[in-house]
Amino acid sequence: MSEAKIASVNEIPSDLLKQLMPSHPEDVLIAFDDFEYLMMRYESAILEVRTKLEILNSELTLTQDDSPISSIHSRLKKPASIYEKLVRQGNDINLRSIEENLNDVAGVRVICAFVDDIYKVAKMLVQQDDITLIEVKDYIKNPKPNGYRSYHMILEVPVFFTHEKQPIRVEVQIRTVAMDFWASLEHQIRYKKDLPQYKADEIAAELKACADTIADTDRRMLAIREKLGTRGDKEKK
Ligand code: GTP
Ligand code: MG
Repeated sequence: MSEAKIASVNEIPSDLLKQLMPSHPEDVLIAFDDFEYLMMRYESAILEVRTKLEILNSELTLTQDDSPISSIHSRLKKPASIYEKLVRQGNDINLRSIEENLNDVAGVRVICAFVDDIYKVAKMLVQQDDITLIEVKDYIKNPKPNGYRSYHMILEVPVFFTHEKQPIRVEVQIRTVAMDFWASLEHQIRYKKDLPQYKADEIAAELKACADTIADTDRRMLAIREKLGTRGDKEKK
């Protein structure tokens, strides 16, 4: 990171500021407040999206035989990861830069049992008239070369605060239980840097094969459900 990129003291995330300027405690407090306030807004956006998903799931549970959503997880990106990503992308290090350049400070992960539920949930969320769809990456139709599958959306959701309404970005990842199991394992292995190359290649090939098996199993499970006809709109009386 070049120091020239730092615009002003109170725009620097607190963690960074503490490292850079431990001798200016008052400035640290100002920066901390601003950063904390920004994080509160992202946390609020997570709450909005989670609530929308929970409401959809409750309604679909009543109108169908089963819940399309198995679980919902969310996380706020850690200050160190925010800082690291800004540096990696060559962005300025300040609060506005976080809002402009990072789409994944607020992250929500939705786990579904069946692949078709992923598309159903995504569609129902996006068609709500206060949601703006910024970007879609369909890694289910177009898996990554390593085998990663998941449906990603960047959404903007308005959040009402005391004096204003603000659109805030949230990254939503929707995947099946099986895809989630694979992604968690692959994520753990990715950080094992001390493997010899031949071993890393062997594991990558094995993971890719597992991802393809999982995708095939997801398809077969969906086909079984369709054969059984155990899901679908309940007949309206
Ligand atoms: P990032 O800079 O990593 O956020 O990538 P991006 O901005 O190009 O977005 P992308 O939609 O490709 O990935 C966003 C997030 O999806 C990542 O932060 C991970 O949580 C997840 N993800 C993407 N690719 C992989 C992968 O190959 N393996 C695993 N385990 N997770 C992945
Ligand atoms: Mg990310």
